[in-house]
Amino acid sequence: MKIAILSSSSQSLATLSALLESDNASRRITRHEGGIAELRNVAEQVRPDLIIIDGTCRDAADLAIVEQLTMQYPQLFIVMLSAQQDAELLINAMRAGVREVLPSPVTREALAAAVLRAESRAGLRNTPRRATVIAFIAAKGGSGATFVAANVGHQLGEEGRKTLLIDLNLQFGEALMLLHDRKAGSDIAEVARNLARMDASFLGASAVPISAQFSILAAPDDPAQALEVKPEHIDAILDLASANYDYIILDVSRNLDDFAVKALDRAGKIFLVTQTLLPCIRNAHRMMSVFRSLGYPQEKIEVLVNRHARNGEIGLEEIRASLGIAKLHTLPNAYKEVAKAINLGLPLSAVGKASPLFRALAELTLSLQSKPGTPPGGLLSRLLRHSPGRPS
Ligand SMILES: Nc1ncnc2c1ncn2[C@@H]1O[C@H](COP(=O)(O)OP(=O)(O)OP(=O)(O)O)[C@@H](O)[C@H]1O
Ligand SMILES: [Mg+2]
Repeated sequence: MKIAILSSSSQSLATLSALLESDNASRRITRHEGGIAELRNVAEQVRPDLIIIDGTCRDAADLAIVEQLTMQYPQLFIVMLSAQQDAELLINAMRAGVREVLPSPVTREALAAAVLRAESRAGLRNTPRRATVIAFIAAKGGSGATFVAANVGHQLGEEGRKTLLIDLNLQFGEALMLLHDRKAGSDIAEVARNLARMDASFLGASAVPISAQFSILAAPDDPAQALEVKPEHIDAILDLASANYDYIILDVSRNLDDFAVKALDRAGKIFLVTQTLLPCIRNAHRMMSVFRSLGYPQEKIEVLVNRHARNGEIGLEEIRASLGIAKLHTLPNAYKEVAKAINLGLPLSAVGKASPLFRALAELTLSLQSKPGTPPGGLLSRLLRHSPGRPS
């Protein structure tokens, strides 16, 4: 990220660049002493992603210079520092294409947050990736949400999709434990603590690599640290991750607090994981009404009936009717393979590729990748459709 600072005061230049440099060594900062008339020169010679204009932009004529530049370089992120903060100036500055006006003298936090926003925009701009966000949430404790989230994440990675699982069971998250036998070097609380200096590569390095394309941003080991993560951090973390991954899997806690709702809001798809037991279905029903009251469209939610046994007391049609849901998947019970995978800290694919559960998980993973308009049907029917001699 290239940042240019323009100020008529050499002292301000030194203070501002010190604030930014100490925050993140990967930033390239140039300082330019001069008034607003220098703005175009700076933009054209340095080609920065972000220009911080300190105090030199006061009236309509100054803003006209800014406006000409932002019209020519719409990707340029301009932050203005101004002691004057009246509504008229703010509106005129925004009309001129200034992205943020911060009070001067600026605090370290306000400056860091503005630069982070500029960086996340630049990240989105430089890469075509825009992650698909998928949340898994259990209707009742032990339904299998974490197990399914971790194995679907791993399988997406195996299919070449760069995938990040974020463990949002902040106090007792165990997604990492399912697939890894060591402690995480960093976790989501650490990311939240350092958000101001975080960039996409720092975020990537904070996640634990499980395979070439799949990593996990773990929950903190110490439940007390979970308190440091706030709902508003979710947006910043997802904005950063979004530019660098194809899929982001959220393992969301069942306590539907502000934090969980923030995560569910950001998800394009929610898998509600349940089992065919009355208390699970009852809770799933309650969750469905919460989702409806949150205004989620029906197609955002799909139900995963885990450990499903045919000929059980509660049939799938009953579940479908009770939850008022169209899309329902089933995953069979596979106690032996699952226990083995968990005890070895491995994905199910490493111990039970032949098991019906693995095949169902693989099919679920494929369904996540099908584009709208892809013909419906299971893995088998898709394979048959593409086999030679069959009309497609
Ligand atoms: N299809 C399955 N067959 C057999 N065992 C399973 C299956 N799915 C999950 N399990 C096992 O069920 C247990 C609970 O799973 P998991 O921890 O994923 O549930 P959860 O919904 O995330 O619960 P929590 O609310 O505690 O986070 C685990 O031991 C898991 O391995
Ligand atoms: Mg869980």
